[in-house]
Amino acid sequence: VLLNLFDYEANAERALPPRVWDAIAGGAKDEITTRRNRLAFHELLLRPRRLRNVDGRSQATTVLGETISLPVMLSPAGVHNIAHPDGEKATAIGAGRAGTLLMLSTFSSFTIEEVAAVATGPLWFQLYYQRDTAESLLRRAASAGYKAIVITVDVPVASPKERDLRHTGPTRTWPPVDSANLDETQSDQQRHAYQEAQLTFGELADLKSVTSLPLVIKGIMTAEDARDAVDAGADAILVSNHGGRVFDGSLSSIEALPEVVAAVGTRAEIYLDSGIRRGTDVIKALALGARAVSVGRPFFYGLAAGGADGVVGVLEILRAEIDSAMANCGVTSFDQIDASVVRVPDHWIETVTRAQAATLR
Ligand SMILES: Cc1cc2nc3c(=O)[nH]c(=O)nc-3n(C[C@H](O)[C@H](O)[C@H](O)COP(=O)(O)O)c2cc1C
Repeated sequence: VLLNLFDYEANAERALPPRVWDAIAGGAKDEITTRRNRLAFHELLLRPRRLRNVDGRSQATTVLGETISLPVMLSPAGVHNIAHPDGEKATAIGAGRAGTLLMLSTFSSFTIEEVAAVATGPLWFQLYYQRDTAESLLRRAASAGYKAIVITVDVPVASPKERDLRHTGPTRTWPPVDSANLDETQSDQQRHAYQEAQLTFGELADLKSVTSLPLVIKGIMTAEDARDAVDAGADAILVSNHGGRVFDGSLSSIEALPEVVAAVGTRAEIYLDSGIRRGTDVIKALALGARAVSVGRPFFYGLAAGGADGVVGVLEILRAEIDSAMANCGVTSFDQIDASVVRVPDHWIETVTRAQAATLR
């Protein structure tokens, strides 16, 4: 039986070929940051509250004006079809049925338009910024009805994972990062490219004139960068270390959240991904100032278990766990959740203080 996201994970490991499993589960280098994304949640402790009438709990919230029925979105990820042949179509259908939104990756296995044609919930489009392709991708996303643009800024150089290289040898990459959105009219290099190495906050500001959709900047991990992103026009920040898949040895995303919230929490919506596996993780992130969270690997585990149904299964588990955590924390809606819900360990306090000092600079 699949009682929780770890059951879905173990089921996916059994169901998928080893190289597909490794491509989804793996992290950069020694995978210290991938593990830390989980361990840091263990260090945060919740403070239960009693006798506060917790009848009528609601998880509905909004992200950039879109209503979602639980505070969990689906992070952008390439090539969903490695876990299920229906790929992003299945994920989008699952997201819609569960009442949340999908961020479609530049490296999707179905096109921007194909996914929009079957989606029943809101879609955001994730861009790896390349000067030559950005404008046309942004235009296509807007005309297909995508509601926001997520710019991923945490892949300054390609960083193939050692788990993947062991399956393919060092000269080939797996999984095939080959975007269905970019056709043969683009060079091979463009179709496989992440963000440009020369990308700066200046180009981000320029994008504001190319698209009228709101911008979410994904991959911010410090107060300093959060401030630069918002100054450049970001409407929301997705605090993320890419699930530990790019740069090993960096902070967990939940440890980075307090300084980002302290720096720009009044100027932009703040979301978090990397390591969310339990409803209590979601409540901890909300308590430290996130408006919503998102998940990456878990929906792949759902896809492996049964396409759209599996994605819904994963999201419904999180919904039930969040509901129970809300009741135990004595709240019925998210505006009642603040920092008093969690105890932050002593050795985290320094980070918070430094960030608050940074906002005064
Ligand atoms: C297989 C896979 C592919 C991914 N591809 C992308 C991508 O194309 N663009 C992107 O911004 N993030 C990508 N990510 C990172 C996710 O958006 C997200 O930050 C990460 O998975 C969150 O951590 P979690 O897996 O612990 O939930 C990918 C993640 C996985 C697992």
